[in-house]
Amino acid sequence: MRITSVIGNRPQFIKAAAVSRRLRERHDETLVHTGQHYDDEMSKVFFEELGVPAPDVELGVGSGTNTAQTARMLSELEPVLAESRPDLVLVYGDTNSTLAGALAAAQAQMPLAHVEAGMRSFDRAMPEETNRVLTDHMSSLLFCSTETAVRNLETESAVGVKHLVGDVMADVSLAFAPIAADRSGVLEDLGLTPDEYLLVTAHRPGNVDVPARLEQLVTLLERLERDVVFPLHPRTAKRLDDAGLRGRIEAAAALTAPLGYLDFLELARNARAVLTDSGGVQKEAYLLGTPCVTLRDTTEWVETVEAGWNVLVDLDADAALSALERPVPKGERPDLYGGGRAGERIRDVLDSYTPQP
Ligand code: UD1
Ligand code: UDP
Repeated sequence: MRITSVIGNRPQFIKAAAVSRRLRERHDETLVHTGQHYDDEMSKVFFEELGVPAPDVELGVGSGTNTAQTARMLSELEPVLAESRPDLVLVYGDTNSTLAGALAAAQAQMPLAHVEAGMRSFDRAMPEETNRVLTDHMSSLLFCSTETAVRNLETESAVGVKHLVGDVMADVSLAFAPIAADRSGVLEDLGLTPDEYLLVTAHRPGNVDVPARLEQLVTLLERLERDVVFPLHPRTAKRLDDAGLRGRIEAAAALTAPLGYLDFLELARNARAVLTDSGGVQKEAYLLGTPCVTLRDTTEWVETVEAGWNVLVDLDADAALSALERPVPKGERPDLYGGGRAGERIRDVLDSYTPQP
């Protein structure tokens, strides 16, 4: 089968690491990079570290509003799909690149597969929520990470065929955690002691684009009582500068550029806790056995909260401090995300898939 996969930003490069190589064992894949993330540390490093095949097509569409990005991607994708004539288009997650890939496929009347289908925050203020819902309802194949995701799609009567395969990001973090432990020297480089520091990431528009919310985030970080390391997403770096908050954040946390996957994973594994508004990082923290404090009031990864490893605090500093004081949950962590075999299961489903004309 001919498959065209559309990816474009950091978490999608990581997700593709679980799927592309496996697909290519039996199928013919064309990999399209929209260019949504384009800095080397947001893109190239993941291809190199994780062995993602080099993109066959690069659209070079990055920056601008969600509408402008999606529109430019759509018009660039139309001729690419016409040329590659895939039997199936594959997209991941919930970003502008996901929606553009999905809509381009639907408009070209090509079957669509969605990896990480059915996730919901039920917060339509997040651009990702719209992207997910629309993509799911255009998809013929819905690859779900969790049972909750399957139920969400059933509730919405999504017509595609649902497959509970597990989570592809889990495949990558489980496979690469030991490699990161072996190869990364990030703790020594940053002068950090295992279990004595907190790792922070934040990039959601709802937290960083509104100056009053951004200041609340900075105030929360100022109140933390351990070493804090904060790899800055480019959106966040820009917003901190625009809001004149650079001095305060530098006093509150050790800032770094966005990190490569191995260094980030090693930091997350050894941290006392992570504080984050990232979807992927919430999952990784769980898989690595690191407590997570989520800087949002909703999550798609509800199982991590139910299992006691994740607490939602939004930007409430008191709630964050008390979440950090909680004892680490005892006992085995349930296998919530498919045990590292999601990529394999996706390939197996595709092996027996007959594209509908
Ligand atoms: C996007 C996704 C978000 C995902 C995140 C992963 C959407 C709507 N949002 O958010 O769901 O969680 O990626 O990190 O698709 N920039 C650079 N260099 C880069 C990339 C971005 O400088 O390599 C800057 C640009 O100023 C750009 C801004 O960051 O305008 C925001 O990038 P964009 O891709 O629009 O959104 P993200 O916040 O990265
Ligand atoms: N990540 C990374 N370097 C960093 C921050 C995050 O490699 O400096 C990885 C992290 O391990 C996770 C993924 O990026 O796998 C999460 O992506 P992001 O937070 O950008 O997006 P989201 O998951 O929120 O969509």
